[in-house]
Amino acid sequence: MAHDEVVKRYSGLARAALTGKVVVDCDAEEFDQGCFGTAGYDDTTGLPEGALRASLGCGDPVAVAGLHAGETVLDLGSGGGIDVLLSARRVGPHGRAYGLDASPDMLELACENAARAGVSNVEFLHGRIEAVPLPGHCVDAVISNCVINLSDDKPAVLAEAFRVLRPGGRFGVSDVVTDGPVDPVRRAAAEQRVGCVAGSLTVEEYRALLGQAGFVGIVITFTADHGDGVRSAIVQAHKPAIVPGLEIRPMREADAGQVLSIYQAGLDTAQAGFETVAPSWEGFTAGRLPHLRYVAVDTETDEVVGWVAASAVSARPVYAGVVEHSVYVHPGCQAHGIGRALLTAFIAASEDAGIWTIQSGVFPENTASLTLHQALGFRVVGARERVGRHYGAWRDVLLLERRSTVIGP
Ligand SMILES: C[S@@+](CC[C@H](N)C(=O)[O-])C[C@H]1O[C@@H](n2cnc3c(N)ncnc32)[C@H](O)[C@@H]1O
Repeated sequence: MAHDEVVKRYSGLARAALTGKVVVDCDAEEFDQGCFGTAGYDDTTGLPEGALRASLGCGDPVAVAGLHAGETVLDLGSGGGIDVLLSARRVGPHGRAYGLDASPDMLELACENAARAGVSNVEFLHGRIEAVPLPGHCVDAVISNCVINLSDDKPAVLAEAFRVLRPGGRFGVSDVVTDGPVDPVRRAAAEQRVGCVAGSLTVEEYRALLGQAGFVGIVITFTADHGDGVRSAIVQAHKPAIVPGLEIRPMREADAGQVLSIYQAGLDTAQAGFETVAPSWEGFTAGRLPHLRYVAVDTETDEVVGWVAASAVSARPVYAGVVEHSVYVHPGCQAHGIGRALLTAFIAASEDAGIWTIQSGVFPENTASLTLHQALGFRVVGARERVGRHYGAWRDVLLLERRSTVIGP
């Protein structure tokens, strides 16, 4: 089906849902099989009625997206918003859930449902999943529910999903696939029963296209059999981390012990800062912006090996886009690209958050830190001489600054 026809069809369903009707995308028998619409979810408690009656998915992508508090998630083809609302709960007040849809009527329905749900951490965007209106490296997870099969340019959709994901980010999608080539007669028969069949990929095609887009760790799991070789499936993959085996993700409360111990280990080198004792967790979190804290995790051991965090430099409105950051890598793990991975992710996240200037102070003797920062666009804007005493010696501090070229250029 051509894109305009797809949009027309779903706009019609959205208008019906807006008038209070329950809409379905497949025949009643398929619906009863326990896969389509709300039947695909374990728990929809507390969601607004309007989101439930417009649920047109074929599974539960939120259940496999591994969402955590503070993360950003994008739902491709968000329809009435059911998966955006479920995601919003999981990522919490410091996270964000975007829904993208080409149908203005679906967006109207989704916004109405979000208002009914009383959530403020969601945003619905108008556009095509083949050209996502978001910058690169800005989301932790891409989800989608029974949409990608409808696209007339699936390689573009997967390339866009890859582009917007942060390194290490996850792709968790529910979709209709075929378990092999299906002859046109069987396909047409299946299309009578299941809405999203005409353009569905075979499992092998899906796998190949994900690989071509750059995804790794591809797993496709069948969740329902609709006959004629047509199945619902959960499709999972991830964007490789910048450093193999390393994941950059938002810092969590549970990371406190490891974050503070890396902080202390850094201070013990006498090159990281004037303090000699790391703060308590309360002290650490009090001054640092919750949405701009990341950790680097060894994916094999699940151990935190570094962190980055930032504080506002001033409460004055004119400085709203200026922060001061610190980046610490465990002294035993340095020179493996961890600092670069952390700082790269942090810069992207800060620009997404509207930050135009990142500042920092570095001891001139810390040449590794200076080299790293300069490689990522920081410049030395000054030096404070003999600014403070550290272990009995007066020390200078170089002032570093990175002015964004994309925020308020
Ligand atoms: C089968 S419905 C699924 C809606 C939603 N994911 C759910 O689970 O209820 C497909 C949705 O994708 C949207 N859609 C289809 N093709 C699209 C495209 N190329 N770009 C953006 N949205 C698209 C439609 O407007 C519709 O809202």
